[in-house]
Parts: sequence; structure tokens; C-alpha cells
Amino acid sequence: MCSLSGRQRGGKMVLQILRPPLLKHLQTASLTCVVSRNYSAKATIKQGEQVTIAGREYLTDQMTNVTSHLLSHVGRNLHLQKYHPLNHISQRIVQYMYQKYVSSRGNPLFSVHNQIHPVVTTWQNFDSLLIPKDHVSRQKSDNYYVNKENLLRAHTSAHQCELIGMGFDNFLVIGDVYRRDEIDASHYPVFHQVEGVRLCTKRDIFGSHQNMDSFRMFENGERTRQKQGVHIAQVLQLLESDLKSCLLGLATTLFGQDVEARWVDAYFPFTHPSWELEVKINNDWVELLGCGIIEQEILSNTGAQDKIGWAFGLGLERWAMKLYSIPDIRLFWSTDSGFLSQFQFDDPATNFKYQVYLIDTYTHPKKKSTSCCYRIVYRHMEKVITQEEVNIIHKRIEEKATADLGVTMR
Ligand code: DAH
Repeated sequence: MCSLSGRQRGGKMVLQILRPPLLKHLQTASLTCVVSRNYSAKATIKQGEQVTIAGREYLTDQMTNVTSHLLSHVGRNLHLQKYHPLNHISQRIVQYMYQKYVSSRGNPLFSVHNQIHPVVTTWQNFDSLLIPKDHVSRQKSDNYYVNKENLLRAHTSAHQCELIGMGFDNFLVIGDVYRRDEIDASHYPVFHQVEGVRLCTKRDIFGSHQNMDSFRMFENGERTRQKQGVHIAQVLQLLESDLKSCLLGLATTLFGQDVEARWVDAYFPFTHPSWELEVKINNDWVELLGCGIIEQEILSNTGAQDKIGWAFGLGLERWAMKLYSIPDIRLFWSTDSGFLSQFQFDDPATNFKYQVYLIDTYTHPKKKSTSCCYRIVYRHMEKVITQEEVNIIHKRIEEKATADLGVTMR
């Protein structure tokens, strides 16, 4: 019996390297070197074992490929952690949706589901979303399977059907998602998504009229690039413009009113038509989210056949990295105060850039030259970093600063 919770974490060692002061010292360079030992627990779990994931038990089989190291991330719930950058962004998104869609009595229409268990069935993750049986996204090499029937959700879309089936018409799902991936500065096997779903009745689309029977949303038409066969074109247009204005509004609320944005046609098995929203950041087009009109077959399967709807999904890390200039996705998992303490603001809408800290300045009274002392935290995201490795990087920073900024190193 092997029980795993979210608490298995490697030890952390903090080294302080203080450079010996120079003879005529105006400044000492201070280096804090944080050595992390997170990668000791990579063992895969054997077949036929009982494994507990966030309080639920599963029997492993030949499909199991979760590792104890990966499972140590389950339950961290970074999106729920106070002051965590992912929490700030998700709060801003929730706030935006709350004020964008209100009932006639002034209450928010959207409900927020941010603590749904991350283990889902293959039916939830794939079949319920019309993902074909032989689709590449089901591969063992791309997912973390708990056993043949269950996996760690690969996207928050996995919860669409159950929530629609429960009667929710407007909802957000916020949670951790898991995909097998090579780790680098922008990829990590665990990240966080926000899923949004909005369903509309005839009344939502046309408003209340005396004779609602004369208004129709469905027809037996042809499926084209622009629409599903069952949707009447004018109805689809209203829904599409609601979706696009909602998401453009969200992007400009967070990235600024002047941000350049564009819609790109996309394909998802569960929406048609589908789009991606891109915004221009530092001269690069960055994909922010995927969205589309929910396949009517999904709504019929969940008992919502008299409604039409849209959905979107976005990755919180991508948004946070762009908004706060966070250079490496692995930093979100840091328990190091050097990272987290920078996000301790109560208003999630605070404009902020992650940075290296300036800890002291000094102007020489006679020479009038100013010394600036910065603290840089060196930390390798996967292994123990040695002092020699730190010295090489530090030397390069010194050389680059001297060449590009014309400063003198001390
Ligand atoms: N689930 C998709 C993904 O993870 C994102 C997505 C795209 C979600 C379109 C949606 C949608 O709800 O309509 O890549």
C-alpha cells in the first residue's frame, strides 16, 4: 500500500555566499544561492498497488504511469494559495466574469468551481468532449494515467459535461491540469487552467417576448466552416459576438485597453466554430486562449438540448508570466520567499513586474559615483546547483552588465 499526498517535498538548503570585501570597498556583492533537492522521488508506481490521490484510492494497472514525484504536486493548489500569482490572476478573471454577467437582481450569473478532484475518467477527459477513440491526445506518452479508466485531467474541459448535466448554465472551472511534457522554462507537467462555459436559452438570445414560439434557434441545415448544421446563422452570430466581446474584454482588462489583439481560426473536437485569441506582447503574438461554440451533440448528451452555448479555456501560467514578466514556469512552484514575497499585495489588480531586487545604493561624496547593490537568487529548477556553476553565471552577468550598461563591477 502506497499512500501519496501533496506533502512530499524535497529538502531545501540555503547557502549564502558572501564575496570577500575588496580593500577599498564601497560595495559587497551578495549572492544568495538556493539549492533545491526536489528530484529524489521519481519512482514510478508498480502495477497492482493501491494508490491514494487527494484522499481517493485507485488500483494501479499496466496503464499506470504516474510517478510519486508527479503526485507530490497534487494538493498544492497553487491557484488557491493566498498571494500566489496564479491566485491573483484567477481572482481577476472571476471578478471580471462576475461583473460582466449579472442577473436581473444584480447577482453574478457565473458560479466558480475551483476544488474539483483532479482525477477524472477517460470518458470525462475525452469521450464526453467527442474526442475520437484513436485521437493522439489520448496517448499514454502525453498523459498521466492512474489506471486504464482514470487519469489526472489533461484539461479543465473534462468537467464541462458533469456541470452542465447538474444544471449549471454559467460557470468557471479553475484547477490544476497534467500533461507529460519535457520540462523547460515554459513547460511543466502540471499547470493551471480556467474553463468558462455559458449556455443561453431562447430568452437569453432574443429577450422576453409575448410569443416566444415564433423565435427559433435551431434548423436542420448544413454544417459549414462557419457553423454547425443545427444552428440558425443569426442566432450563432449573436452568440459569437457575446463570446468574443466577453473574451476581448477580459484580455484588455488584464493586458491594458491598448493591447493589440486578433482572432485566429482554430479546431477543437468539442467546439465549432473555434478560435484562438492572440495578443501582441513585446512585438510577439501570444496565444492567450482557445474558445468556440459548444458542439450541440454535447449539450444533447447532457440534457441541455434546448440551449446553445460557448466555452473557452486558458492557461493561467501563460497569463501570469506575461503580466508579471515571470521568466520561468518552474518559479510558480517555488516555496522560496524571494519569489513569493513579491506578490504580497491585497488588490489582485496591482500592476507589478517580477524583478531582481535592488537592496542598497550609495553615492560616494567626493567621486559622486553611485554604487548599486543587487541581490540575485541563483536556483536550478531541477538539480542541486554547485558554487562553480553559480560563479560562471555570475561572471557572465558581470560581463554583460559592464559591456551593455557601462558600469564598473565591484
Ligand atoms: N481544453 C483546451 C485545451 O486544453 C482549451 C479549450 C479550447 C477549452 C476551446 C475550451 C474551448 O472550452 O472551447 O487546449
